[in-house]
Amino acid sequence: MSRPPAVRLDRLLANLGYGSRREVHALVRDRSIVLDGQPVVDAGAKVSLTADLPDRLTVRGAPLDPPAPLVLMMHKPEGVVCSHREPGRSIYELLPPRWRSRTPALSSIGRLDRDTTGLLLITDDGPFLHRVISPRSHAPKRYIATLRDPLRGDEAGLFASGELMLDGETHPLAPARLEVLEPRLARLIITEGRYHQVRRMFSAVGNQVLQLHRDRIGGLDLPPDLAPGAWRRMSREECESVLAQES
Ligand code: URA
Repeated sequence: MSRPPAVRLDRLLANLGYGSRREVHALVRDRSIVLDGQPVVDAGAKVSLTADLPDRLTVRGAPLDPPAPLVLMMHKPEGVVCSHREPGRSIYELLPPRWRSRTPALSSIGRLDRDTTGLLLITDDGPFLHRVISPRSHAPKRYIATLRDPLRGDEAGLFASGELMLDGETHPLAPARLEVLEPRLARLIITEGRYHQVRRMFSAVGNQVLQLHRDRIGGLDLPPDLAPGAWRRMSREECESVLAQES
């Protein structure tokens, strides 16, 4: 087994958003950083990034924030945006405030529209993010759409054909699977992540999505006990299940 990497304490804490290196040095001077029960005296000391570090190291009496890499699942609520640049409350405001200053930064794996709810993954692990969003991964995303009008009956065939062209695009959509649950309620599984894809697919068949909820990515379901707005860290097995191909 390879040894966990060792990093300078001041760099680690600065990257976790505790402040500039100078501010971290001040925390050390104040004896506010405690490792294995002893105040740290050297801000430049190297610490091993072992999984139990947050249990062994406290900052102002609280356990250290989890170091990178971090993968989170969130039940995105309605009315919250996924981008820092869009106006309005963002998903990042639902996380601990200090986490907005982390390096590497946390970002969502793909986006959900402001009014879409459901399973959203957030990570600072670039390779994992790229594996999930890569067109080669084909990670299926499952949505429940509430529609303005009853389904006509020909939508499933059209969506599955691999020939549906969205307005303004030059390549048809990959085949998608539609299951009619009720006349105005459908389950749709897509493998791409084009802009407003589900809403545009239904508008291409003359309908309109009134509510949209994502309940599965790859082989990972939105846990029923994760309330809107809640989030939690994902286990390694859960991360792997995202890339599992079943849907
Ligand atoms: N498709 C959409 O139209 N909106 C989303 O939020 C996700 C997929």
